[in-house]
Amino acid sequence: MRLGKSIYGPDGKLLLGIGIELTDYYIQRLLDLGVFMIYIDDPLTRDVEIEPLIDEETRLKAVNAVKKALLLASGTMKDKRGILEASGLVEAVDMITDELATKKRTLISVLDLKCYNNYTYEHSVNCCVLGLIMGINSSYNEFKLRNLGLGLLLHDIGKMLIPNEILNKPGTLDPFEFKQIMAHPQNGYRLLQHDDSIPPVARIICLQHHERCDGSGYPRSLAGDSIHEFSKIAAVVDVYDALTSDRVYRRAYRPHQAVAYIKAQSGHRFDNYTVQGFLKHIAPYPLGTTVRLTTGDEAVVVALNEKAPDRPTVRLFRDKFGTDIDPVQEIDLSKEENVHILEVVS
Ligand SMILES: [Fe+2]
Repeated sequence: MRLGKSIYGPDGKLLLGIGIELTDYYIQRLLDLGVFMIYIDDPLTRDVEIEPLIDEETRLKAVNAVKKALLLASGTMKDKRGILEASGLVEAVDMITDELATKKRTLISVLDLKCYNNYTYEHSVNCCVLGLIMGINSSYNEFKLRNLGLGLLLHDIGKMLIPNEILNKPGTLDPFEFKQIMAHPQNGYRLLQHDDSIPPVARIICLQHHERCDGSGYPRSLAGDSIHEFSKIAAVVDVYDALTSDRVYRRAYRPHQAVAYIKAQSGHRFDNYTVQGFLKHIAPYPLGTTVRLTTGDEAVVVALNEKAPDRPTVRLFRDKFGTDIDPVQEIDLSKEENVHILEVVS
């Protein structure tokens, strides 16, 4: 088993190069480092090109800027000016925006986001990437994109005031612990309240990202258009990224499962217009996913269709009787109305 795409460490240094034989030792080391999803080199998909959505360097800069801001907020690092280092955050948002705007592809696969299981900082950057791609598609201007991006990078800053034992508790929270978790939107708002370098709308995203369109959210049970447009985006991307991440209390959902959850809540907990915009950019079946079709054939996803994210092009390699299909055949599901993906095999 060989590695299909190089892996970089949290410091941006190459950990393992493409093509290297994955021994048990390497696999265990990767797991120890928190790398829990990788591309495997497979003869069936060797010709499939994987272009990173954003450069490692950009992601690293963004993660470090968020880390610095969040640590400042938690009071573990004292800044003489007593404010967040907003210039680093603005630079990170602008770099991500520039890269996303110049990329040909607009579909995000889960491996574009899940490099490391360093949840707090990676989650903030992932939400920022997901929200910005939606904002770019909605033709937001530079100003709006920057405000949205900053708010998404900082949306969970209030969690810095919650002890790690509560944040990472595997079991059920007691009422006191639960109250602390529920207070993080307001605490985040307060942390940013006196910081002139942070735009007011970023504070609103902090305050409202757990509000839900049907009024079932917190802290103020706001509903419908009482919730800011950017907060509606934050709600969807926050839940999607959280669901597709491994947490102490549950394993990560597969992308198609997280998409199904978001779709089911569209028009209820989540704003329908926002969900439709989000779904345009998410690949429920990323490249390399093995699926079973309604014909009974097994196939692997080899190309994504930008206009129909849930209808990728697949390569059939085994028929419904378990016999290998040789030579393999490809079908573009966006053109085959009668064939559907029945389930994800691996
Ligand atoms: Fe949150």
